[in-house]
This record gives sequence, structure tokens and C-alpha cells, in this order.
Amino acid sequence: MINICNLSKHYGNQPLFRQLNLDVVKGSVVAVIGPSGSGKSTLLRCINGLEIFQGGCISVNGQKLFGDGEQGYHKTSNSHAVKNIRKKVGMVFQQFNLFPHLTALQNVTVAPISVLGVEKAEAESQAISLLKKVQLDGKVKSYPGQLSGGEQQRVAIARALAMKPDAMLFDEPTSSLDPEMIDEVLAVIRNLVSEGMTTLIATHEMDFARNVSSQVIFIEKGEIIERGNPQEIFSSPANSRTKAFLSNFVK
Ligand SMILES: Nc1ncnc2c1ncn2[C@@H]1O[C@H](COP(=O)(O)OP(=O)(O)O)[C@@H](O)[C@H]1O
Ligand SMILES: [Mg+2]
Repeated sequence: MINICNLSKHYGNQPLFRQLNLDVVKGSVVAVIGPSGSGKSTLLRCINGLEIFQGGCISVNGQKLFGDGEQGYHKTSNSHAVKNIRKKVGMVFQQFNLFPHLTALQNVTVAPISVLGVEKAEAESQAISLLKKVQLDGKVKSYPGQLSGGEQQRVAIARALAMKPDAMLFDEPTSSLDPEMIDEVLAVIRNLVSEGMTTLIATHEMDFARNVSSQVIFIEKGEIIERGNPQEIFSSPANSRTKAFLSNFVK
């Protein structure tokens, strides 16, 4: 579903990714773990066309984005693919990024109506069932400011799902939540995964990564240091840096 081939990216003269390769098979769940600043967000943002990159190729369900060399953004070659990829890949951010002046319902209907041309009534009925799916049927008319962090994040997930994505990217979706709200958001993600949603999630929730993912990648300074199934990575990491990182999470 998602194929990243020889991805290279730098910020100014600071290299981040050097020939990074990653495949996310349809229906699988890849957990991206690693220290702050290791490139987790940037990797997700490259996949969704939110960041340019200099080399390599990212393909999502056949739509390809190419690195722009050292020249600057090749808008003409990539813009069509970026549009298509954004339609097909839902992204959920640490900070929710809801529209504050729109209700939960409107947050979920705005893109299907304006981007996909769905009729308002149909978009609303779909949004109501999505809000129900994320356990927010009672909050349809609430504004983000009237919702808890966990509720806002669940609206954000419903909003992404309203585009009927082929894959979902979650960038530390529970990192800015109070502890008691983390589980309600993870439960929604777990449910999506069990329905077969192809998922890439950057997270510090190691129990979740261990129990829900099909593959874990440990990334440090833009490099995938180790990858494998969660049992391998968490029980017997091969690399000393993976070990050192995971030792921070021992309970
Ligand atoms: N817009 C930017 N300009 C310059 N450097 C950036 C920018 N965004 C991220 N970086 C750098 O790229 C590296 C990876 O950042 P990021 O992807 O946010 O890491 P993570 O999500 O793992 O914490 C960091 O060193 C960060 O400082
Ligand atoms: Mg990040």
C-alpha cells in the first residue's frame, strides 16, 4: 500500500533521511518508535505530501511522489499525486488540528463536501455514523472548545475517515492527552486496525505498539536502526541503541 524507496531528505545542510526504505503492506500496522527529533513526524508528513524531499520515491496505492533533487519543489510533476494521496491517506496529528469555528459534525463534513463533492445531506448522515463509531454520538453539535482532548482527537479521526482513506497515518495521536483519555483514543485506533485499515503510527505507547502492530521500526537520527515484528523488537532487540531506547519505557 505504501512503498518508500531510497528516501532522502535534508533541512538546509542538515541531512535527515539517507536512502530510507520502508514498505507498509495493505492491512498491516507499522509502529514507528524512536526518540524525539528522530524524524517520525517528518516521515509521516513526507508520505502525505506535506513535506518535500530531495531523493527517492514514495508510492501510495500507486500514486507516486518523487524527490525534487536539489532544485526545489517540482510542483508540476508532484502536485497531481499530492492531491490524490491526500484524498486517500488520512492523517491525525498530535494537536488535533480541528477547525475551531466548526462543530464536530461540520469538521467531519467539510472535506467530503468541498473536496469530494458529496451532497450535504449525505455527508451529514455519513458523519453522524462516523461520530457514532468513535463514540461521540452525543457531541455532534459541540465545538472543539467544548470537547476534551480525547474527544477532539476522536473527532479528528472521524474527520480523516470521512474521506474513505486507503491508509491512516497517526502522528503521536495520544501524546498531548491526559492519561485518562489515552485509552479511549487507542481503543478507536485498535478498532480501525481490526477492521483492516492500513496504518502507520508514530507513538510512545509501547504496550499499544507491542500488542497492535504487525511491524515495529525503530528510527534514530533519520535512520531505521532496527525493524521487525513486535515480539522481536520488544523482547530481544538486536541493536544496542534499540535496547537503550526501550529501557526508558520499562515499567
Ligand atoms: N521545518 C524544519 N526545519 C528544520 N529542521 C526541521 C524542521 N522540521 C523538523 N526538523 C528537524 O528534523 C528532525 C526530525 O524532526 P521530527 O520529524 O519532528 O522528529 P520526531 O517527530 O521524531 O520528533 C529534527 O532534528 C528536527 O529539528
Ligand atoms: Mg514528532
